[in-house]
Amino acid sequence: TKDLKVVVSSNDYPASGLKVLQEHFTVLQSKYNHYGKEGITENQEELMKIIPGASALVWISHHPITKELLDRAGPQLKIVSTVSAGYNHCNVPELKARGIKLSNTPEVLSSAVAEIAVSLILGAARRFTENLDQVRRGEWEIGFQKTLGQDVRGSTVGVIGLGGIGQATVKRLAGFEVERFLYTGHREKPEAKALNAEFVSLDNLLSQSDFIVLAVPLTDETRHMINKTTIAKMKKNAIIVNVGRGDLIDQEALYDALKNGDIYAAGLDVTTPEPLPKDHKLLSLPNIFILPHIGSATERTRSDMGVLAANNVIRALTGKPLLTPVLE
Ligand code: DGY
Repeated sequence: TKDLKVVVSSNDYPASGLKVLQEHFTVLQSKYNHYGKEGITENQEELMKIIPGASALVWISHHPITKELLDRAGPQLKIVSTVSAGYNHCNVPELKARGIKLSNTPEVLSSAVAEIAVSLILGAARRFTENLDQVRRGEWEIGFQKTLGQDVRGSTVGVIGLGGIGQATVKRLAGFEVERFLYTGHREKPEAKALNAEFVSLDNLLSQSDFIVLAVPLTDETRHMINKTTIAKMKKNAIIVNVGRGDLIDQEALYDALKNGDIYAAGLDVTTPEPLPKDHKLLSLPNIFILPHIGSATERTRSDMGVLAANNVIRALTGKPLLTPVLE
């Protein structure tokens, strides 16, 4: 009902989602963007102004949700609806302690993120960074043996985390004549059979894969799971691809490994921090292909995420089960 107030945390929420919310509630939207040039401080101040009395908070950023903001909202706050699959920024213990529900937007973005996983695989394997650089400089190394890459055909692809994104990635790669798909995680997945993916230990995946795709959420358990020790178990031609969160990888260890040629290359859609400063040492490496966290950034997918987030708010505020609950 229109007596209920819903706060949208940033000015770049999809119009489709906004429309759904506005049909039901009084919507207050921040006039700032967490990632805009005004930055986080202005947005946080604006949120502190508009949040008191809100029943729902739609969250569009990877910045942490603070206790301060929750206090300011007041005890009537029933749900935080994050417009993302990942919810490592959502302060789950704090929401839980306060009895606030949390929803995310999984599945609707799996194919878009998988398309970026495939892009990173190709971009890292075929040395897009070096090759683009040659084009920009107008100095092409046209030699039969120059700047040679790696094939996906005939390779072993290991997926860490065969959830929605991992499965969508395997499906898309199936046409590339991959020899073997391996995966690891907490448990075997029933969907793996149809994908011809074999469940293996992390160690086996690391030592056998030519491509290692990270598609797990960031948790205390997965933080820095790619580190000096795990990298040492990889093949020399291994290519690491990350579409999860930057902190899955110890970037110091990754830098050293890429620099020393201990592994072949990396393709990252996520880094720590974001944005990665332009003088960051990872960007000095030729064998890394980095994108600015665009996994789910297509018009259709962002719209679907926005609408799903809005529908979760409606469900929470009308006493119905959430469509995609994290905390209920
Ligand atoms: C996600 O959904 O978690 C992506 O990182 C985009 O926000």
